[in-house]
Amino acid sequence: MIQEYNQYTAEDHKVWKILFDRQSQNLADKACKEYLHCLDQLSPALNGNTIPNFEQLNELLLATSGWSIEIVPGMIPVNDFFELLAKKKFCSSTWIRPLDKLDYLDEPDIFHDIFGHVPLLVHSCFSQFAHAFGKLGVKYREHVSIVEQLQRLYWFTIEFGTLTVNNETKVYGAGVISSYSETLHVLNKKTEIQNFNLDNVTTQSFVNTEIQQSYYSINNLSELLQLIPILENYFEKIVNEKKVQYEIR
Ligand SMILES: [Fe+2]
Repeated sequence: MIQEYNQYTAEDHKVWKILFDRQSQNLADKACKEYLHCLDQLSPALNGNTIPNFEQLNELLLATSGWSIEIVPGMIPVNDFFELLAKKKFCSSTWIRPLDKLDYLDEPDIFHDIFGHVPLLVHSCFSQFAHAFGKLGVKYREHVSIVEQLQRLYWFTIEFGTLTVNNETKVYGAGVISSYSETLHVLNKKTEIQNFNLDNVTTQSFVNTEIQQSYYSINNLSELLQLIPILENYFEKIVNEKKVQYEIR
């Protein structure tokens, strides 16, 4: 699939600009500094002026991180998603929400996928985690329960993860980063934010159609990197336990 860049209307670019400017301002004191730095690094090809052109963005993204954007028609099967991540390809749609629905989305659009997900791919720890996550998904694609646990892990880190920095909450997950109202919701003192715990995260179900009720926090993005060998052991143990159960039967 290709991005038919000339098909975007003046209103599409206007929507992008409104979303980009409003959320950049909102995030200035709410996003983790790593996200803001990466967004700035990509600013020649990812800014509020126009909808990003994937050709330009891919060139910069490949040069800085080895990642590239893979255009998808919408939600894709989880195993295809794992495979793309394992090849350092991040999925994005090309459509943008209409002007009269700036805050309501049934499924991810280009603003969520690009503004929300892409900047942190330039950050070394985050990039390695997303890549390792994809490889784990490919490795365990036949294990239904592990795939489910990986989806939950993705949800509470890459999609809705938060950081606690000097007792302050900062957001890094793309679902929050790309949402004006969810950013405010996370920073609301009444919102429940728990310390990241792998057992809790992999057993907690989630709803993808509503604002989240709980979030998990880590202290810095290098914890994602430290999580990789822990996950490898964690899932290997599950596979071995299943084998033992099978042999006993
Ligand atoms: Fe997402």
